[in-house]
Amino acid sequence: MADDKTLTRLYEAAKSVRDRAHAPYSEFPVGVALISDTGAVYTGCNIENASYPEGWCAETSAIAHMVVAGDRKIQDIVVVAGGERLCTPCGGCRQRIAEFATPSTRIHAASLDGIEKSFSMADLLPDAFVLRDEPETNT
Ligand code: THU
Repeated sequence: MADDKTLTRLYEAAKSVRDRAHAPYSEFPVGVALISDTGAVYTGCNIENASYPEGWCAETSAIAHMVVAGDRKIQDIVVVAGGERLCTPCGGCRQRIAEFATPSTRIHAASLDGIEKSFSMADLLPDAFVLRDEPETNT
């Protein structure tokens, strides 16, 4: 797990990118920041659409940024949302995170006050579907 200083950095980045969310339909902006195994930080927000199912989650945006930059392993990922309940990644995003997770990947759910609860990948997606053990690189 990332150290406290890194987690604070991720939290601030996630909170900041949440301001860029395009969430006029749900009015539920979400910000995500992740750190990869190279130490690079990638952020993302949710981007909704008038055709509701075409919108996507903040986690998806952040993962896309990581993959486009050439990284493939998520070390820690912080999800920031407002609202009364803690925002943990949706089912689809759990599978997307799992695609790029390692056994030590940690997922942190945060409110506007800071990180509230931290999970392992196995906590959030036990017995995850995998097609094969070692996916080929660049496919
Ligand atoms: N959402 C995320 O971006 N991440 C989550 O972890 C849960 C939900 C978004 C999807 C949609 O734009 C809005 O929050 C309400 O569901």
